[in-house]
Amino acid sequence: MQNVNQSCNIGFVGLGVMGKNLALNLADHGYRVAGFDLDTDKVNDVLDTEAKERPSSVDEARIIGCDNIKQMLDLLVSPRVIVVLVPAGDPVDAVCQSLIEADLSPEDIVVDCGNSQWTDTIRRESDYKDQLKFFGTAVSGGEVGARFGPSLMPGGDADSWKYLQPMWEAVAAKVDENGKPIESRTPGQPVKEGEPCTAYLGPNGAGHFVKMVHNGIEYADMQLICEAYHLLRSLLGYEPAEIGKLFEKWNQGILNSYLVEISADILQQYDEKTGAPLVDMILDSAGQKGTGRWTSISATQMGVPAGIISESVYARALSTLTAEREKAAGFLIADVETSEIDAEAVEDAIENALYCAKICAYAQGFQIMRAAQTEYDWTLNFTGIAKIWRGGCIIRASFLQKIADAFDKNHDLENLLLDDYFADAMAEKQKGLRDAVVLAAQSGIPTPSFYSALAYFDGYRSEVLPANLLQAQRDYFGAHTYERIDAAPGEKFHTHWQQEGRPETKVK
Ligand code: 6PG
Repeated sequence: MQNVNQSCNIGFVGLGVMGKNLALNLADHGYRVAGFDLDTDKVNDVLDTEAKERPSSVDEARIIGCDNIKQMLDLLVSPRVIVVLVPAGDPVDAVCQSLIEADLSPEDIVVDCGNSQWTDTIRRESDYKDQLKFFGTAVSGGEVGARFGPSLMPGGDADSWKYLQPMWEAVAAKVDENGKPIESRTPGQPVKEGEPCTAYLGPNGAGHFVKMVHNGIEYADMQLICEAYHLLRSLLGYEPAEIGKLFEKWNQGILNSYLVEISADILQQYDEKTGAPLVDMILDSAGQKGTGRWTSISATQMGVPAGIISESVYARALSTLTAEREKAAGFLIADVETSEIDAEAVEDAIENALYCAKICAYAQGFQIMRAAQTEYDWTLNFTGIAKIWRGGCIIRASFLQKIADAFDKNHDLENLLLDDYFADAMAEKQKGLRDAVVLAAQSGIPTPSFYSALAYFDGYRSEVLPANLLQAQRDYFGAHTYERIDAAPGEKFHTHWQQEGRPETKVK
């Protein structure tokens, strides 16, 4: 450990990519950090970077490397705030145990900044309540976000938030009065002005839940962009770089977002080894750590229709069946038509399809959070959530300002599709989604999330669905009963379907 003359404001356990960058971000904002990692190379790496980046006006190290947890705790002002940035799951509990053994006080605040499952955060807050204050803060924005301004989604004990708020607001991404990110990527020159992309979201697991939904939407956003790419490539025969250029154009309009921006960049890169478009050299088998899957499971458990998000998870799963797909490609015949295509019209259709499907995916994400309020007894501020996603995070996009406006106008908005702005957008652009889906189906191009978005939109706007037949089927084989349109809600009926005369019986 270096010579230390002053105490530190915050401790870090875990100095991997996210821990290192968040610690450097805090240091740039004038906070002194004490850091520990089981891997001493990681400690040395953060100390080296801090020394290189340290402004000439600062004469002392802003990050202190510690040899053990006790040493780190001894450097912290009280109440001690310790950020834990280790892999989600058992390692978080292992760190809590080590902190407790090192004599943490019940007033000290332990902040889990990993991608933990929200149920674990709820459990941990309760398990450790006599030993420490467990607090969750989900971080979005990857390495660069952590270093220069992430979106931070805090949830936990409201008193602990008072200590964290100034630090979190300092290091979070900032947006201007129009909701546009204010970015600087120069070490030592952090963005200080603007509205911070963080806000207290609620007790216990609220922050991690909101981040999980963010990731569910992230999966949908990414899959939809991939489907747009697939259509442009297969229907129009465009090369990756041409699609990259088109995405650049789209990024200037309604689709303006970080994910469209990086996709445009990716598609214009070439492989150094072969000279081929780099995207063509990457195996088409998608990984996943689990947050999208958790979102889909949580939606299913709460009975929220979130098909676009689920299809995006399934699309990743299908992509991994590489050997089976190879076999099936030579075995299954596609009976498809190829018709005359007007390239410009198809480009427009796909752009509009992407926008409409994106609106539906966000509608589903917000529906999941709406349901979670009842399930977990939270009061979530949807305007606030949309606002803290405007900068720093992976799904940052111009249209999040429109979502914030929609919830600002009506806090109880049942579904984004019922907001005038989004209803008008769907009215104006849905033909593109319909055309894209038709073209995909006719040509045999898999676009599961586009299909699902259109089905969601048509289902949601249907006053009558065939669930009447479904209820009858359930009653037929299982006497599950049904309600009648001309009886009071909740009154149950059963029909003796196979009996002669089939008398309808009211269930008492
Ligand atoms: C973010 C990202 C980040 C990470 C996910 C993606 O908001 O910064 O969502 O959390 O990229 O872990 O995970 P998958 O491996 O599941 O795509």
